[in-house]
Amino acid sequence: MIEIKNAKTIDGKRTDRKIPSDQTKIIDASTLTLLPALIDPHVHFRVPGAEHKETWATATDAAVHGGVTTVFDMPNNTPSCITLERLKEKKKIIDGQLKIPIRYGLYLGADQNHLEEIARCKDEIVGVKIYMGSSTGDLLMKDPAALEKAFQIAGENDVLVAVHAEDEDLIQERKRKLSLHSHASDHSIIRNAEVAKRAAALAIELAAKYGVRLYIAHTSTKEELDLVRQAKRQKLKVFAETTPHHMFLTTKLYEKLGTMALVNPPLRDTNEPVWEAIHDGTIDTIGTDHAPHLLEEKRLPYGKAPSGFPSIELYLALLLNAHAHGKISLEQIVRLTHTRPREIFRIKENDDVVLVDLEKTKTVEDAHLRTKAKWSPYHGMTLKGWPKFTILKGRVYEIT
Ligand code: NCD
Ligand code: ZN
Repeated sequence: MIEIKNAKTIDGKRTDRKIPSDQTKIIDASTLTLLPALIDPHVHFRVPGAEHKETWATATDAAVHGGVTTVFDMPNNTPSCITLERLKEKKKIIDGQLKIPIRYGLYLGADQNHLEEIARCKDEIVGVKIYMGSSTGDLLMKDPAALEKAFQIAGENDVLVAVHAEDEDLIQERKRKLSLHSHASDHSIIRNAEVAKRAAALAIELAAKYGVRLYIAHTSTKEELDLVRQAKRQKLKVFAETTPHHMFLTTKLYEKLGTMALVNPPLRDTNEPVWEAIHDGTIDTIGTDHAPHLLEEKRLPYGKAPSGFPSIELYLALLLNAHAHGKISLEQIVRLTHTRPREIFRIKENDDVVLVDLEKTKTVEDAHLRTKAKWSPYHGMTLKGWPKFTILKGRVYEIT
């Protein structure tokens, strides 16, 4: 049994908590606050095919350092996870790498030549991921008829559809027209708000037509969020995720980091629409989109450098720091990182918790990170509020 004594709750009261375990441990939590452990519905743990960037051994260590005990992994692997056979193979490889027994779910990648897999895999997956725009990996749903069919099958089988909502045709058109291909900051101009809006609008239209539960990954613009607002008003089952980088970073980062600041969808000039949508309830969840790439890859010239940031181990500290600065309440953090993901993905309650020290201040150092990628765009930031213990399946992970 693990006994947590005298922890603060999010409403300022004190509580004791007993968690069934084969360990016997008493934690004096008088200086700590108790939260439910975080669910991260959007990670890229790179297995199979990119184990040089990350493995489930390194990624799960990073995850518990971020207060996360449940993750949903994306299918843009090598090879892409697009069939039941590949899904089972991926599971086997993951289970072989796991030292920390994280709770995990997998997405199936939608592929226009394997649409029948959506129904075949429905009991094995958390949802089907549709890339409407290209990103890392070769998953891309180009054919409009196949896209529609994927929504239809998902609707018939009650499978949640998660979309990477960027319109590929518009991306290519803007690349050609603008002939901007040399600076990292061009990325945000090419993949602008219209690119995101066009894809999100189509996804919502198809979700409405086929009764699909639609999860729009990494929303970052007012345009997308207005569409989500409208969809929610119409009582459609449309859910919006945002990311830590769209909450805390902007296009200013290109000056400092150049191609290291590349991510899809790109950084925007302002975080304001995201914060507004967090506060009015339009945004349901936060997914880290933990997408590790090595520094030597990230430093390649624009056009060659991959997009994506490692971030999962800083996830909770970034949110607690925002809380310390009065930007978000603990209730909102719990709603975005636990309650709404549980409802949307129909996850059963469990005993996992995280104990946080709201007073601790620490500066983020790349060299101390657990991710195999060993860098993050948050290097050098001083954050107030850090997790101290993550408890997963009755095991205590102390965070140093
Ligand atoms: C992701 C990755 O590297 O896997 N990159 C990113 O910029 N978000 C791919 C993705 O989901 O877009
Ligand atoms: Zn992603």
